[in-house]
Amino acid sequence: MLQNSFFSQSLLNGLNQFISSLPDKSLYKPVAYILEIGGKRIRPQLCLMSCKAFNGKIENALPLALAVEVFHNFSLVHDDIMDNAPLRRGMQTVHEKWNTNTAILSGDAMLILVYDLINQAPQEIAYKATKLINQVSLEVCEGQMSDMDFEAINNISLFQYIEMIRQKTAVLLGGALQLGAIAANANENQQKAIYNFGLNLGLAFQLKDDLLDAFGELSKVGKQIGGDIIANKKTFLYIKALELANEVDKASLENWFSQKTVNNTEKVNAVINLFNKYNIKEITQNEVDKYSKIAIENLSICNFNTDNNQLFNTLVNELLFRNA
Ligand code: IPE
Ligand code: IPE
Ligand code: MG
Ligand code: MG
Ligand code: MG
Repeated sequence: MLQNSFFSQSLLNGLNQFISSLPDKSLYKPVAYILEIGGKRIRPQLCLMSCKAFNGKIENALPLALAVEVFHNFSLVHDDIMDNAPLRRGMQTVHEKWNTNTAILSGDAMLILVYDLINQAPQEIAYKATKLINQVSLEVCEGQMSDMDFEAINNISLFQYIEMIRQKTAVLLGGALQLGAIAANANENQQKAIYNFGLNLGLAFQLKDDLLDAFGELSKVGKQIGGDIIANKKTFLYIKALELANEVDKASLENWFSQKTVNNTEKVNAVINLFNKYNIKEITQNEVDKYSKIAIENLSICNFNTDNNQLFNTLVNELLFRNA
């Protein structure tokens, strides 16, 4: 949970209530597990913050906030299968702790539970929220597909990468904020403005995630460091390094990223050395800053009062400088 959030308590209560309402059957054990091991819970907080900033009733947004967090966790359970990831939030991933089939099925159940949660909101709000969630979910699937397709393609452009992370990550942050606006009955322009804030925040967020994947600390990130390098993910770091590298280093990078069965430690070390040689850490952090600034510019269009603006600014800064 992020600091300085005064939504923490209602969100935690809502999550706990949801978890304790799950049937006592094996299908739901991984659902409770993944939700209980925590995470930052930034998306539901964004949803509640947006509702409050647009002067809505928090109780109308709470089911939508929970739905967004359950959706996010569903996407992580399936993402960890696709990425062959052993760790999540410092704990075993669901497919490692149970098995892949269980992770697929429990993930499916989570996606269905998302709609149960949405339907707990007042009818008019639930209708609009369902439309938005459907649109966002399909984009997330498209983005995840591109992410995997790109593993086997060598000349991915920066434009293709940004489009891929927009879909797999940014639309959900935008969607979480727009859901809060929907719960507050905000008009279309307001909904669009807060969505665009979230979209740019989401791009910054995924760039930072990619940065931490290579340069973070395991004890803080809670995920396998170098996982993207091992899986040949075409992140900003890789694309930028290829762009800046001399011919020899470029060939070396391309060679490492064309193999999947090489010694992982050797590969991760070699690639990180090349990233260091070309200042990739600093360049990526500058890119995170760039998209965070664009996000803040979009925020001004929302015309929030000083207190609410301050809240969003604090959150952007926390995400910008996060190490987890
Ligand atoms: C991880 O999201 C997946 C991405 C889209 C980068 P978070 O970094 O929000 O994960 P948790 O929920 O805090 O663990
Ligand atoms: C995840 O991107 C995006 C979604 C789950 C939709 P990543 O694969 O980079 O997320 P992490 O690093 O595993 O959390
Ligand atoms: Mg992934
Ligand atoms: Mg992953
Ligand atoms: Mg990642």
